[in-house]
Amino acid sequence: MKVLITGGAGYIGSTVASACEDAGHEVVILDDFSTGRREFIGSRALYEGDIADGALIDRIFAEHHIDAVVHCAAKIVVPESVADPLGYYDNNVGKTVTLLQSLVRNGNQRFLFSSSASIYAPDEHFVVTEDSPLQPGSPYAKTKYLVEMILQDVPAATGMRVLSLRYFNPIGTDPKLRSGQQLEKPTHVLAKLLEAWQNHETFTVTGVDWPTRDGSGIRDFIHVWDLARAHVAALEHFDEATADNPYQVFNIGTGNGVTVKELAASFEEISGDPLKVQFGPPRPGDVAGVYTVSTKARDVLGWKAELTETEAVRDAIAWLPKRKEMLGY
Ligand SMILES: NC(=O)c1ccc[n+]([C@@H]2O[C@H](COP(=O)([O-])OP(=O)(O)OC[C@H]3O[C@@H](n4cnc5c(N)ncnc54)[C@H](O)[C@@H]3O)[C@@H](O)[C@H]2O)c1
Repeated sequence: MKVLITGGAGYIGSTVASACEDAGHEVVILDDFSTGRREFIGSRALYEGDIADGALIDRIFAEHHIDAVVHCAAKIVVPESVADPLGYYDNNVGKTVTLLQSLVRNGNQRFLFSSSASIYAPDEHFVVTEDSPLQPGSPYAKTKYLVEMILQDVPAATGMRVLSLRYFNPIGTDPKLRSGQQLEKPTHVLAKLLEAWQNHETFTVTGVDWPTRDGSGIRDFIHVWDLARAHVAALEHFDEATADNPYQVFNIGTGNGVTVKELAASFEEISGDPLKVQFGPPRPGDVAGVYTVSTKARDVLGWKAELTETEAVRDAIAWLPKRKEMLGY
């Protein structure tokens, strides 16, 4: 298959590109480098520009026989989306609509969307399936929800078929270290652990009064390599997966809830260094968290997570010196 990956210079898109190539598929990257990195492109076919540039999409389709599109390009920082909701709705929703129009014009039949588990409503047992109620909190999560709503209407009118992959909490790095988390200060919990460890600072568990088994938030941490492999499985099973219904949603998580305190313990074990830990209140907008109990991705796509959060921690630590060498920080 030849796959166009929007946002293919970013953390997840670049890892998906590596997984596709490892599985024998060809990739073409479209990225505006707003947060993506040129160092992650290597010798891949690259189109630099905006997903809403229709002429550029026409050129890509004229120059390549594209079998499927993986749409990773988006702005993804939750607090930034609160400060600039219109910028987020414009980039993530408005430009996705324009992209879809360009893809329909060019006859694209398969569209795979990077959605997010942050659109689920809180659940008192912390578990969700694809059918659980949705209640996106932040403007960022709402952009993912809105695009899903739009995508539901597209197949009947256009013949394009759609898979929405709802990612849980991606962490870690391509085990071969070809690319990784490029942001210097991402805000997720593993990044905070890495920062505390590197700078000999205290790690703060934000929120210890949630009704979870140890009071800290619970997440479904998925190794980014497993997540990338899920895209390969989705592409390879696309036609069967959409045979009965041309719009399908899949939860992409491990099925294991891991608390923030448990992740900190795994981190200590892997790093071999004791960690200074303190407890603090939840940050604005924080939630207790959810994990998936769905087996739909396994049953339909033949995919399941194989790597643990401990392996993700190991690979994230291994990425730090490689990132310095590759990106200079
Ligand atoms: N990282 C997570 O925790 C997470 C969780 C759930 C879902 N997702 C989704 O996964 C996708 C990828 O996230 P990521 O973590 O790799 O983020 P990222 O910022 O590393 O990658 C996004 C990429 O999209 C590009 N981009 C953004 N707007 C563009 C535009 N208008 N035109 C062309 N390129 C554009 C950026 O330059 C970047 O390379 C996003 O859609 C995100 O919503 C991420």
